[in-house]
Amino acid sequence: MAIQAVRGTRDILPDEIAAWHAIEAAARGLFARYGYREIRTPIFEETELFARGIGAETDIVAKEMYTFADRDGGSLTLRPEATAGVVRAVIEHNLMNNDPALKVYAMGPMFRRERPQKGRYRQFHQVDVEAFGFTSPTIDAEVIELALGYLDACGVSEHELVLNSVGDRACRPAYVERLRAALRDVAPTMCGDCQRRADTNPLRVLDCKVPEDQATIDTLPRITDHLCGACAEHFAEVRRQLELLGIPYRLSHRLVRGLDYYVRTTFEVTSTRLGAQSSILGGGRYDGLVKSLGGPEAAGIGFAVGLERLALLAPPREAEARCDVFLMPLSGPALDRALRLQRELRQAGLCAMLDPEGRSFKSRMKQADRLGARLVAILGDDEIARCAWAVRDMARSEQQDVPEEKILDHLKEKANG
Ligand code: HAM
Repeated sequence: MAIQAVRGTRDILPDEIAAWHAIEAAARGLFARYGYREIRTPIFEETELFARGIGAETDIVAKEMYTFADRDGGSLTLRPEATAGVVRAVIEHNLMNNDPALKVYAMGPMFRRERPQKGRYRQFHQVDVEAFGFTSPTIDAEVIELALGYLDACGVSEHELVLNSVGDRACRPAYVERLRAALRDVAPTMCGDCQRRADTNPLRVLDCKVPEDQATIDTLPRITDHLCGACAEHFAEVRRQLELLGIPYRLSHRLVRGLDYYVRTTFEVTSTRLGAQSSILGGGRYDGLVKSLGGPEAAGIGFAVGLERLALLAPPREAEARCDVFLMPLSGPALDRALRLQRELRQAGLCAMLDPEGRSFKSRMKQADRLGARLVAILGDDEIARCAWAVRDMARSEQQDVPEEKILDHLKEKANG
């Protein structure tokens, strides 16, 4: 029996790769314009990093991590998200010392053991953006503008920005206690998850999607009514700047997000075209995370986009052209000449191919067609006698003789033209 890919993982096949290249190129191009540089961190880290960074009570840490014992007894985990690893690297390499306004982005696979469904995988990819050292609401608005600009650059429209503030260490604990108290009375009537969360992580109750619980959740206290002065002012300024930039949003006091490190601004962009997994990207501010992972007191804010979801929403792309020139030597001496020309064409930056199996003329023409070759250069006994190649322009169905000494320049010009 042939072995299959692990459940919840998927291959990105050559026919799909043009879409991925476009998404990656759009990120590099746009993020550079906002002053971000790329950082690459390992895909596995000490388990403790995620437990401390994301929060031991979150679903991600409690239920979804791929954790394994290392041979020396340590505990390692495949990264479920990028932020914790990026923060670890920022602290370890003192990146904020040399750069008080540090902006980085990362791309790559993440791992969460969730129930697989459309748009939800156990290995998925994120483009992740993080900015350190900025406390001003201006950067919240800029990061959101960047997130939406990125979707735009990928050709994705028809989405909604959802915005909230979850307060900070000054005001959230009192709110959470208020929520816990309110839940004491109503939680027993709610779903099992809510009953558990009412105690362990009351904020997560707000995330519940069970239809029967919605009316109860509507009666619970709202964080936006309990923000401290500083958080309320920060949030008002973020909103004012979004309005100034012409960026529409919907407020949702229930947007608490599944990671514990957030303070103040949180946001998500959703699309109704994604089905149940409606979130394309999510992010927020995480002042305090750098300190809690052993670094200096430093502000942080960022977001991550799920690339599988982005690829689903992006307009279809034509497959990348695979061949500029297909060479067709029809005899032994012609093959020797064709091998040299193939090398010269490749050195000149073109994609050149020939059929090393020497199949029939007809089957080679079919191959050239399937590869999308723009030009076919044929060299048979007749052509050798005339010191020329027969060059066929596949799109125009035209054929012409090109003298041997001009063939390289001719093919270069035609292929680039
Ligand atoms: P997150 O909301 O957990 O945030 O994930 C961000 C995005 O990753 C989601 O909106 C979704 O598109 C994608 N995603 C998450 N899980 C899956 C999955 N199982 N399959 C496919 N796509 C998925 C974070 O990860 C934070 N680290 C974002 C952040 C960066 N906050 C601040 N900086």
